[in-house]
Amino acid sequence: MSGAGGLRDAGARAARWEDAIGRHVSELETPVVVADLDVVDRNVARAAAYARERGLALWPHLKTHKTVALAARQRDAGAAGFTVAKTREAELFAAAGFGPLLLHYPAWGTAKWERLAQVAGQVPLTVALDSLAAAEGLDRALRARGTSAEVLIELDAGMRRTGVGGAAEALALAEGVERLAPAGGAASHSAGGAPMSSAPSGASASGLRVAGISCYPGHVRGTLAEVRDGLARVEQLLRATRDAFAAAGIRCDRVSGGSTATLFLAHETVMTEVRAGNYVFLDRSEARGAWQEDDAALQVHASVISTSVPGRMVLDTGSKTLGEAGAPAGLTGWGRLTTAPGAEVVSLNEEHAVCELPPELAATARVGDRHQLVPNHACTCVNLHDAILAARNGVVEEVWPLLTRGEVR
Ligand SMILES: Cc1ncc(COP(=O)(O)O)c(C=O)c1O
Repeated sequence: MSGAGGLRDAGARAARWEDAIGRHVSELETPVVVADLDVVDRNVARAAAYARERGLALWPHLKTHKTVALAARQRDAGAAGFTVAKTREAELFAAAGFGPLLLHYPAWGTAKWERLAQVAGQVPLTVALDSLAAAEGLDRALRARGTSAEVLIELDAGMRRTGVGGAAEALALAEGVERLAPAGGAASHSAGGAPMSSAPSGASASGLRVAGISCYPGHVRGTLAEVRDGLARVEQLLRATRDAFAAAGIRCDRVSGGSTATLFLAHETVMTEVRAGNYVFLDRSEARGAWQEDDAALQVHASVISTSVPGRMVLDTGSKTLGEAGAPAGLTGWGRLTTAPGAEVVSLNEEHAVCELPPELAATARVGDRHQLVPNHACTCVNLHDAILAARNGVVEEVWPLLTRGEVR
């Protein structure tokens, strides 16, 4: 598979929205996903300024928006590179001119390893992985193609999803990856045990080179105090592992972590890189800690299609439009109805959002009324759409086609 055609396909899927440009959002056919450009720009600038001021490298996760337009904004704001989860995302964004790329996902299978080896010939590639088997397969493919990639050994920071369990396991895996290099090959082992520079030292050698460690503290959420507390435990693991690598003479100058919830505390840890994704749009699940409700940039615009059941209204947006992510801890319902405070989406079918209304709203709700919802989770909402409309002061300025929608391999 190549990246050719990706941009053309995405553009064609979004073409039906082109006539929305210049129109007020209240005139758009619903349901439709609209991003507030002022809020997006503020979020992009805020994360970029934080990373710059704290000397951290920001690698935004592209899975949130999947668009060239937003990746370009993040690049212009100073992103050091981009994170992806899917091999196809790596192919398409590399073909669209974005790199360096970090595939933070343990890619498995010969087809994927060969495709990644090809991507590594186009842009500097890093992969995060947690098994020697995955490393061996990718290393083989890279060598066959004469390309190279850096490896971050992934640690499980407490989420119990992927990542090895501790410093000793991480070191053993790193040493295993190092041994894949034929004698005189990849040279990420530093002679004196000191961390080496982040410049790829074995640039001429093909295959994998260990460059550091990584984790995803996705379980660390809540108030600022709760996030700081959760991150302190993650920090112990990262620091112990980094020190173990240094003692063994394994390069570990890259320590990748970060999520939107933990982003602004990364400078209190040994992290050198942060991979926040959701921060561009935010959503109902992130309106805590450092982020507030008015940082949510993305809303689904919907119309009332029924008020027949007393005390209720039904919107023309369901799980196939809004996404099916459950409410964050302490909250209920499917999204936050910004246009109807006090109302709640109590059930979600494929194409219906059933809202329970307080008496004053029930008395006035009419078929055809328009409402807006912040989804519980922006990433899984966006993924359902061909394009996002971007509006400023309520007027659509841009159409952002999704480059990698449906690209799950
Ligand atoms: C491995 C990895 N890194 C980074 C992120 C980005 O985190 P967030 O969406 O909280 O910004 C995710 C999100 O799922 C992830 O899985």
